[in-house]
Amino acid sequence: MEENEQSARGLHFVGKKDELIEAKQSFRSIEDRDILIIYHQGVFYAMDSYCYHAGGMLNNGDIEEINGKLCIICPKHKYKLTLAKGECLYKGNNPKEKPPVPRWYSKGVKQRTHTVTENNGEIYVKLSDNPNWIESDYYQGEKGKIERAKA
Ligand code: FES
Repeated sequence: MEENEQSARGLHFVGKKDELIEAKQSFRSIEDRDILIIYHQGVFYAMDSYCYHAGGMLNNGDIEEINGKLCIICPKHKYKLTLAKGECLYKGNNPKEKPPVPRWYSKGVKQRTHTVTENNGEIYVKLSDNPNWIESDYYQGEKGKIERAKA
């Protein structure tokens, strides 16, 4: 693919496939957005690198399967974010259930995720074009940097 064709499609080169596989988790800045690229069990994922909860760096968070969904565990307060969609999962009880059995619930999509593609051993990220506010947006850009410093 030609370079100008890639940028016309919003694709940003983020590294060689082999290097990103070896690194497992890689931090990149794309258009003023800080992104974490994750390689896990043969699949690449990309998401905002600052946790929506309080701006913690997700880098080096453990990856675990929870309720059938792969999640990164935020190192700061252990929130669980699905790699595929950025949903936050939590364990809770339904008080109407007697006796209550703890189950996993979703708080919905909280972390913005981005699209990763591969071409000839090179990896590209296309930033999410979802126009809706997603909570992890709060910690991005210049304003986000100030908020992260306060958190
Ligand atoms: Fe990630 Fe609090 S900052 S869980």
